[in-house]
Amino acid sequence: MLTTMTKPVWTDSLTKRYGEVTAVDELNLTIEQGEVYGFLGPNGAGKTTTLRMLLGLIAPTSGGVRLYGKDSTTRGYLDAVGALIEGPAFYPYLSGRENLRVLAGHAGMTASRVAVVLDEVELTDRAGDKYSTYSLGMKQRLGIAAALLKDPALLILDEPTNGLDPAGMADMRGLLRKLGAQGRTVLLSSHLLGEVQQICDRVSVLSRGALVAERPVGELGAGGRLVVVTAQPDIAHTRLVAAYGDDTVRRHDDVLELDVDESDAAKINADLVGAGIDVSELRWRRPNLEEVFFSLTGGNHAA
Ligand SMILES: Nc1ncnc2c1ncn2[C@@H]1O[C@H](COP(=O)(O)OP(=O)(O)OP(=O)(O)O)[C@@H](O)[C@H]1O
Ligand SMILES: [Mg+2]
Repeated sequence: MLTTMTKPVWTDSLTKRYGEVTAVDELNLTIEQGEVYGFLGPNGAGKTTTLRMLLGLIAPTSGGVRLYGKDSTTRGYLDAVGALIEGPAFYPYLSGRENLRVLAGHAGMTASRVAVVLDEVELTDRAGDKYSTYSLGMKQRLGIAAALLKDPALLILDEPTNGLDPAGMADMRGLLRKLGAQGRTVLLSSHLLGEVQQICDRVSVLSRGALVAERPVGELGAGGRLVVVTAQPDIAHTRLVAAYGDDTVRRHDDVLELDVDESDAAKINADLVGAGIDVSELRWRRPNLEEVFFSLTGGNHAA
C-alpha cells in the first residue's frame, strides 16, 4: 500500500459534489512514474474538477489525493508539479519572455531557466513579442512553458489542445510526446479519443464523474467497421448481405458499413469490383468517442 501511495498520483475514492451534482464520484486512480496518462471524457464529465482537486485548488467532498505520497496539507505538496488549467493568466502588454521572467522571479528561479523552457516549447523566435499578439497555439505553448519552469517531474495539463486548429493540435501533440519521452510523468485531459490515442500510454474514461474504464491506449477504440461507398448500393447491399448476413451489413443511403475483420477488406473489394460494382471508396472507420462510450457502458453513461 505504501508503495502505491507514493506514486506520482494516487487518489482514494475521490469525490466532489456541488449540491445535487456529483462532479467526481469515488475516483480511484494510480499514475505510474514516467507514464503519459490520458483522462478522457465528454464535456461535464468531471475532468477539470478532478485536476483541480489534485492541485489542491478545491477541496474534495470526500476521499483523498496524494502526489508522490504527500497530501495537500504537506509542505511542498506541489514542489514537483507543473500545471496548466484553463487558460493561465499572463500580462497582455508584456512579452512572452517577460511574462515568464515575472513568474520565474516569484518562484525564485533564474532567468536562464526562462530561455530553456522557451526553447522547449519552440517559442524562442517570438518570445520578444507582446503576449496580446500571440495566436491561441502560442498562448497554450507559453502556458506549458510556464508549467515547465520549475522542471517538474509531474505535469498536469487540462485540455492542452483545446481550441487549436489542426496544425496547432499536431504541434501540441508533438510537444506533449516529447515531454513524455523525457521521463516526466504527464497527466492530461481531453475529450478527443484520437488525441489521447496519439499521445498517451494509458487512458481512463470518465463519464458523469465516474471511471468507466481504464485501459492501455492500444486497447481503447480498437475495432471498427469497413466503410464501402458505391454508386450501386442496392446491388452491393444484396450481395454483401448474401455473403456476410443481415446483421453484419448496415446501409445509410449509398454508404455501406460492415462489421467484419479489417483483413476482409481486400476480399470484399475484389468481390464487388469482380461483380461489376463500382467501389468509389473503401476505408476502415475507427470507433468514435460516442461508440467507445457505448461499448463500455452499454449506453447508460454516454453524455
Ligand atoms: N464550481 C462549480 N459549481 C457547481 N457545479 C460545478 C462547479 N464546477 C463544476 N461543476 C459541475 O461539475 C460537473 C463536472 O464539471 P467539470 O468542469 O469537471 O467537467 P469537465 O470534464 O472538465 O468538462 P469540460 O470538457 O466541459 O471542460 C459539471 O456538471 C459541472 O457543471
Ligand atoms: Mg474541463
